[in-house]
Amino acid sequence: METFLQYNPTKLYFGKDEVKQLASVLDKGLNILLVYGGGSIKRNGVYNDVMDQLNKLDAQVFELSGVEPNPRVTTVRKGVELCKKEGIDFILAVGGGSVIDCTKAISAGAKFEGDVWELITGKATIHEALPFGTVLTLAATSSEMNCVSVITNWETKDKLGWGSPHVFPQFSILDPSYTFSVPRDQTVYGIVDSMSHALENYFHRTENAPMIDGFIESLLRTAMEAGPKLLMDLQSYKHRETMMYISTTAYNGTLSNGTDGGDWATHRIEHAISAIYDIPHGGGLAILFPNWLEHVLEDDPSRVKQLAVNVFGISPEGKDDMELAREGAKALREFWNSLGAPSTLADYDIDDSEFDAIVEKTFIKPGVGTYKEMDHDSVRDILRRSL
Ligand code: NZQ
Ligand code: ZN
Repeated sequence: METFLQYNPTKLYFGKDEVKQLASVLDKGLNILLVYGGGSIKRNGVYNDVMDQLNKLDAQVFELSGVEPNPRVTTVRKGVELCKKEGIDFILAVGGGSVIDCTKAISAGAKFEGDVWELITGKATIHEALPFGTVLTLAATSSEMNCVSVITNWETKDKLGWGSPHVFPQFSILDPSYTFSVPRDQTVYGIVDSMSHALENYFHRTENAPMIDGFIESLLRTAMEAGPKLLMDLQSYKHRETMMYISTTAYNGTLSNGTDGGDWATHRIEHAISAIYDIPHGGGLAILFPNWLEHVLEDDPSRVKQLAVNVFGISPEGKDDMELAREGAKALREFWNSLGAPSTLADYDIDDSEFDAIVEKTFIKPGVGTYKEMDHDSVRDILRRSL
């Protein structure tokens, strides 16, 4: 294992009706900016639950609504302006990963003199941020318990991941019943995204990390068991809570303790694609990940073989590593297909016409992939396999 520091200051309140914790974790009389998306929280009653709690605190509530899936820097700028103008003390994000990611950027931008895009691109350093908390409504990204955010700039067509220890949520409230209204397609994307985070962590090059490997394999097997059952019954509290805990754990730092941090090339390629085509993140991953596996196993099948045997339960009898690894990659594709996830770029009407731009955007920050370091040709190969 490598030396590591485990640090995660986010308080997690998990369970039914835990929204009532807002009254105990927030001070009275604050100026609060409530950030949310396109209106799902008004339709499913979460908005009212949150407002009931904030009213008890005599909070003065300002609102920023309309945060887009794949949140845009233009919306972040609106939030920063509101914070500065209204003297906001605390931001409350109520939504999925996009709302939380947007909130992280607002919280950093609110304490910065220049344009927030400079923080996102890393041209300027984040020294402080406004405190914020979250009420999660979609199980997918782990943004509720990490210090990562992904923001899109439509002027430059860039979708950039960034992070800072200053943008951990102070707390996150996870009530699985708040995800009952998540439609089937978004539920599928959430399962794919969570499993992809586990897979990115799994593909490390660290010697002797059996505990982490075992954690990840168990998480993947559990997702494969609970995911299809949830899709048969979207109102199942039992399966919603399992998927919610899986998604939060998959990318909150737990699965990279003591390793080199995992690969993450597939995420970089997906972000480059959705910067141009604005597709759902989980949908893009479902297309790319099996092809990334098939690409890397050509050089070294050992890890994909381990996935095949330990997660997909493929019998090793009479098969060499390469055969097993190929069966493993196929099994992942078939599993996601069985959930109804897309499997080719054509499913989103994407052809090869923008491949040059996608490759270029994948390398917008240097160093793509650690398990296998990508060059332009390898990214192009994965894209071609994905057509
Ligand atoms: O906008 P509203 O009306 O709320 O609707 C949303 C949105 O249309 C809807 N939704 C959310 N909760 C709902 C609901 N609909 C009904 N009932 C509910 N309870 O779902 C749609 C998608 O929401 P979004 O927040 O975009 O989804 P997700 O949580 O998958 O977030 C995706 C974004 O997170 C980034 C992705 O790139 C993408 O931009 N990621 C963030 C990461 C992080 N911060 O650590 C890591 C990930 O790898 C990922 O890149
Ligand atoms: Zn992801």
